[in-house]
Amino acid sequence: MVRREFLQDVLNSIIGIWTLLAGIGVSFLGVKYLWPTEKTIAPSGEEKVRISFSELSEGKAKKIVLRGKAAIAINSGGKIYALSAICTHLSCIVNWSEEQKQIVCPCHGAVFDLNGNVLAGPAPKPLLAYDVKLIEDSILIG
Ligand code: FES
Repeated sequence: MVRREFLQDVLNSIIGIWTLLAGIGVSFLGVKYLWPTEKTIAPSGEEKVRISFSELSEGKAKKIVLRGKAAIAINSGGKIYALSAICTHLSCIVNWSEEQKQIVCPCHGAVFDLNGNVLAGPAPKPLLAYDVKLIEDSILIG
């Protein structure tokens, strides 16, 4: 009888520890899902950023750092767009989808058009747009 109680206590302890670890794991995954993956790419105090046309061919995008924050320059339909790359939902870094011709947030699925307007998803505001000037063979953003 004593041996049976001992084994029952050991089994209960194992189940309790396993349940605790599973709870911690689920909590960690929940927090990781909600927490932004990146806020900025790198610190930079540049007021304006100049990139070469050769770095941004038709249909492509380039991530840059402008005033210390992530931004994205996109060449689409013969026009250059420059927007903040920080999603207005929880600050994940957005990506350009060349196939969809839209800006997509990888975290919770917000979608923006080339002017930064929200097309879908939980993002509450549009992406901030930056001025773009074309100077000879380069693009001045900011
Ligand atoms: S951070 Fe949630 S949709 Fe972008």
